[in-house]
Amino acid sequence: MTTGFAEPSGTSVALLLLGAGADPNAERGVSCPGELPAPSDPTLVERAWAAKRALGERLFVLGHHYQRDEVIQFADVTGDSFKLAREAAARPEAEYIVFCGVHFMAESADILTSDAQKVVLPDLAAGCSMADMAAIAQVEAAWDLLAELDLADSTVPVTYMNSSAAIKAFVGRNGGVVCTSSNAKQVLTWAFTRGQRVLFLPDQHLGRNTAVLQMGMSLDDCVLYEPHKPNGGLTPQQLREARMILWRGHCSVHGRFTRECVDEVRARVPGVNVLVHPECRHEVVTAADYVGSTEYIIRTINEAPAGSAWAVGTELNLVRRLANAHPDKTVMFLDRTVCYCSTMNRIDMPHLVWALEELVAGRVPNQIVVDPDVAAYARVALDRMLALPG
Ligand code: 13P
Ligand code: SF4
Repeated sequence: MTTGFAEPSGTSVALLLLGAGADPNAERGVSCPGELPAPSDPTLVERAWAAKRALGERLFVLGHHYQRDEVIQFADVTGDSFKLAREAAARPEAEYIVFCGVHFMAESADILTSDAQKVVLPDLAAGCSMADMAAIAQVEAAWDLLAELDLADSTVPVTYMNSSAAIKAFVGRNGGVVCTSSNAKQVLTWAFTRGQRVLFLPDQHLGRNTAVLQMGMSLDDCVLYEPHKPNGGLTPQQLREARMILWRGHCSVHGRFTRECVDEVRARVPGVNVLVHPECRHEVVTAADYVGSTEYIIRTINEAPAGSAWAVGTELNLVRRLANAHPDKTVMFLDRTVCYCSTMNRIDMPHLVWALEELVAGRVPNQIVVDPDVAAYARVALDRMLALPG
């Protein structure tokens, strides 16, 4: 198997797991103030282009690869979360950054841009179920437990980009760093120069897959911390001996792919190459031929020979776009059933047009503003990542 997810190349199920009262969308305020245009309005595309033209250089639109086609056409830059974080940081001249992606990405953009720049998320309900699986109070309780056991000083917290600004700030305050699926190996390598073990948040799969497939660790080096259980469901000895303490979080989109999906497609399509994202379960990743970040997946399909066949385990908008872009190759979705990221899909034409037209009218809708203290520490953790080679 080829693993590309650590190469320097360039997210409602969660509520069931969160327990009563913890509705992140409610906390974010999902209502969309003002009038949304009707989805059936035939002038939406024209209106979006007109608003974009009117805003000119003052506007910079970022689009994650999992966005709908109808939206992605308006992006000035498309990318995975790593590339988009870098792009946001590199545009000091843009007054408005409209983020076609999810909440944690827009928070990161706000953290990495100046106070004069305003980051807009066209629909505040565009969250990420994985990011919502690690609440700051739970993470602080886990850290307190490690401190009581005298383990905090030798543990480096690492959080996946898919986490709230509060988690990133926690990590920054405690000597840790952010990672993405593009650089998880480099980040873990850095972390193990500073401590004996890593507390990896919130995606257990990215943590486990990177540790085992790229860092030479064994599954026994990894323990699963379950935030709803006393002491995470772990004994002091398990915590002491672990090299990777994996938070029990996962992506509800990538978590759907199973080992059976891989076996089924191999039986159906002889010679097919199975290419998956490292947010997939370990047994899926180990059964695949290639594993890597969204950018890696795109690059791999771009470079594949004509006539080759690919079953891709990632979000459906991206897989469809790749299939359409490569009619000379067979590009199919790994699962038999469709699987969009429902929160990524919240950003649609009505919300985009509404957001852009509000900006043209001189109003800033759905601005994402991270508390300055939180932002300062989150920036420490993001800057540590951005300073790593790659
Ligand atoms: P990347 O953009 O880092 O590949 O992550 C995929 C994802 O699930 C984003 O929410
Ligand atoms: Fe979150 Fe998964 Fe959607 Fe990415 S694809 S935004 S990790 S739920």
